[in-house]
Amino acid sequence: MRKAVIIGAGMTPVGEHWKLGLRDLAVEALLNAMDDAGIDKVDSLYVGNMVSGPFVEQENLGALIADWAGLGNIPAVKIEAACASGGAAVQEGVKAVLSGLEDVVAVVGVEKMTDAWPSDATRYLAYAADAEWELFHGASFVALNALIMRYYMKAYGYTEEDLALFAVNAHANGAKNPYAMFKRPIKVETVLKSPYVADPLKLFDASPVCDGAASVIITTPEKAKELGVPKEKWVEVAGMGRAIDTITLASREDLLVLKAAKVAAERAYKMAGVEAKDIDFFEVHDAFTVMAALSLEALGVAEKGEGAKLAKEGQIAIDADYPIQTMGGLKARGHPVGATGVYQTVEAVLQLRGEAPSQVPDAEIGLTQNIGGTGSNITVNVFRRV
Ligand code: COA
Repeated sequence: MRKAVIIGAGMTPVGEHWKLGLRDLAVEALLNAMDDAGIDKVDSLYVGNMVSGPFVEQENLGALIADWAGLGNIPAVKIEAACASGGAAVQEGVKAVLSGLEDVVAVVGVEKMTDAWPSDATRYLAYAADAEWELFHGASFVALNALIMRYYMKAYGYTEEDLALFAVNAHANGAKNPYAMFKRPIKVETVLKSPYVADPLKLFDASPVCDGAASVIITTPEKAKELGVPKEKWVEVAGMGRAIDTITLASREDLLVLKAAKVAAERAYKMAGVEAKDIDFFEVHDAFTVMAALSLEALGVAEKGEGAKLAKEGQIAIDADYPIQTMGGLKARGHPVGATGVYQTVEAVLQLRGEAPSQVPDAEIGLTQNIGGTGSNITVNVFRRV
């Protein structure tokens, strides 16, 4: 079977980009990644994006971005899996390379969210939930996650202070990332004193509404050699898995198990021939603090109900046993929804090349986990230093 390696990575800073449109962000990230790989053409383009239609009234992103980047008449398509669109686009790019149909593939994740009014942004984000069974009844996406947070705290006796530790860790790492939206460390009190968005979920339990784009270039080791890309730049895509769960929370077997993440992780671990204990760092989908806890449990890093315990025991910091959110995660780097899975991939590449601003010492294997909806569509990818 062919192997896939990432040979180029690029991104824009995450933030409120008033002067740049969706295409500007996407093309900047894409050209950065192509420059990084030292190439000027690709065979195809996969665009991870969740809600460009409602947010900026633009669909057909494959054609828009490939054309604007001057890539010629290549195949280019948008991949949508709610907030997991970026992770899914990376997987589609890898599949194209592994299939042998394409040799050099570009993936871009992009989202432009801040041009919308906050109330509209809230509505568009909720499109990832069940429109008829949840939104119709008035539940916002934040409200659905607040329900999960309340239930998690009640089931295992955790406090808001305990969950705040995930945000504190994310901001500590984000403070060192020049591409992060929030570059300042915070304390537990910062989280506790921030306003409630949907009780018990506060402003600092949530990832922000923001803009950004990230991109990677994928090929085979043979082609990378032919293109003259130095081996120090290669990062292997060792394993990947994707799975869905019920889109409606009310239909879940267990509200406190991210079953899709469990299934996706099992597939990714099997393909990579690794176990959770072999992974050196985890870029998990901390769109809300409780999601970081549930993700660690689903990935097999913590037992059921013990994800938040890892944070309490100080085990999620850069120099601890299970570093997470090494460049700020969704909370501090920011969460331009459809771009996030590609940002996570770029960050994994930088860690495995030894180029990350908060470097995990001797990182050899890294994992990214990207959640769509309230856990209804999840990708897990495993990357290995070559
Ligand atoms: N964490 C920390 N600070 C934040 C923040 C966050 N998540 N979101 C906004 N801020 C800051 C802003 O920078 C701003 O600071 P300033 O006054 O110093 O400039 C201030 O808080 C107010 O920002 P504003 O944009 O007016 O916030 P808002 O009330 O409109 O939105 C949320 C806050 C939490 C409702 C919004 O960020 C949100 O909906 N987040 C969740 C997004 C989501 O669901 N994503 C998909 C998940 S999978």
